[in-house]
Amino acid sequence: MDAVAAARVRTMKQSALIETYEQFPLEITHASGSRLFARDGRTYWDFYGGHAVALLGHSHPAVASAIAEQASRLAFYSNALPIEIRDRAADRLCAFAGAGLERVFFCNSGAEANENALKLALQQTGRRRIAAIEGGWHGRTLLCLSATTDAKLTNPLDGLLIDSVRLRANTLEDVSKIDASCAAVIVEPIASIAGIIEMQPAFLAALRKRCDEVGAYLIYDEIQTGVGRLGRPYVAGAHGTHPDLATSAKSLANGLPIGALLMNAKVAAKVKRGDLGSTFGGGPIVCAALLAVLDTIEREDLLMQATRLGEALHRLAGVGPVRGVRGRGGLIGLELACPAKTLQHALLESGFVTGTSAIPNVMRLMPPINMPLAAVDEFAAALQRLTGLAEGSAK
Ligand SMILES: Cc1ncc(COP(=O)(O)O)c(C=O)c1O
Repeated sequence: MDAVAAARVRTMKQSALIETYEQFPLEITHASGSRLFARDGRTYWDFYGGHAVALLGHSHPAVASAIAEQASRLAFYSNALPIEIRDRAADRLCAFAGAGLERVFFCNSGAEANENALKLALQQTGRRRIAAIEGGWHGRTLLCLSATTDAKLTNPLDGLLIDSVRLRANTLEDVSKIDASCAAVIVEPIASIAGIIEMQPAFLAALRKRCDEVGAYLIYDEIQTGVGRLGRPYVAGAHGTHPDLATSAKSLANGLPIGALLMNAKVAAKVKRGDLGSTFGGGPIVCAALLAVLDTIEREDLLMQATRLGEALHRLAGVGPVRGVRGRGGLIGLELACPAKTLQHALLESGFVTGTSAIPNVMRLMPPINMPLAAVDEFAAALQRLTGLAEGSAK
C-alpha cells in the first residue's frame, strides 16, 4: 500500500461526522506557511490554500498572536454593545477596499454575505428577480442558490428559489437581459469554481451602465478575488467600475469564519436599524484577526508578492501537461492536456495539494500569496516529470 492509500485508510475511520465532503486522502496534523504536515510524516506544498482561505499562509504568527491576545482580553460580546476593535476593523476594511465602499456589515461566511447583499437589493428596490452569471457560484443558502449554477444543488429545491436570469460571462449582448424587473446582478470578477473565467473590464463596465439605466444594484462577489489575492485590494474600483455592494469572506481573517458585506453610501443610507443582524458577526476575535491580516498585507508588501506569484505561475504554461494559464495573482487556472483529477492525484503523490474546477481539464490553484517562489519551481519540476499524463490522455 503506498503512502497516499495508507493515509486514506487512516482518514476513513468512522466518526459521527456526516460524510458530505469529498476529501483529499491525507490527514494533516499541522501546517505552517505554505506547508502541510501529514500524520505519516510527509509534507506537502499547499497550492489549494484550504480553498482560498490561507492567504498569508497557515498559522501566520501575526494572526495567531492577535487571536491569542484578543481571546484573553475579550473573546466575545454581541453587537448589543459597541466594541472599539469592531469599529476599527470596519474603518480599516473600508479604507483598504476604497472604491466608494464606505460602510460594512460583518457576518460569518461567504454565503451569509451574499444572502444579505441580495436581500438588501430585493428589499430596497422592491423587486423580486435577480440576475447572475452562467456558471457562477455564490453559496448554499436559498438566495445564493438562486444565483448559482449547479443543477444538483438547485434541482431538489425547485419552486423554492427566486426568479432569476442568467447572463453568459463576457457576453455584451446578454447585458440587456438585466431589466427593470431585476433587483441586482451578482458577479464574481473571476468566476473561480467555473474554471477561472475572468470578467473583462468592458463587461463589468457594461453591467454597471445597465444597472444604472434600469435601477438595479451591481454586486461583486469578491469572496475569492478579494483581500489582495489578485495583487490589488479588491477588483471593485478597477478600471473605474464601482459596484454598489461587494462581499468578502474566506481570506479575510486567514482562517477564522468571517463574512463582510461592503456597500456604498447610496445603499447604506437606506439600511434601517434591524435590517441586518448576526450574533457572532463582527466578534472581537475575528476582528483582531482581520486587522492582523490587513496589517500584514501592508507590512510585508503582499500585494506585490501576489502579483509576482501570479507571474511565476503564468510561466507554467507549456510545462508538462499544462497548455495554458489563466487568472491572476493567487487565483490561477491551469489549462491541461489531461483531466485535472488525474493530475491532482499524481501531484498529491508528489507532495502538492491542488484544486479542480467545473471544467474537467482546468486545475485551480489558490495558494497563500506569500508562497515562496521556490515552491513554484518545485511544482514546475513535478509537472515536468508528469508530462506522460498528457501523452497518455492523447492516446
Ligand atoms: C465565489 C464564492 N462565493 C461564495 C462562496 C460561499 O462562501 P462560504 O462557503 O463561506 O459560504 C464561495 C465558497 O466557495 C465562493 O467561492
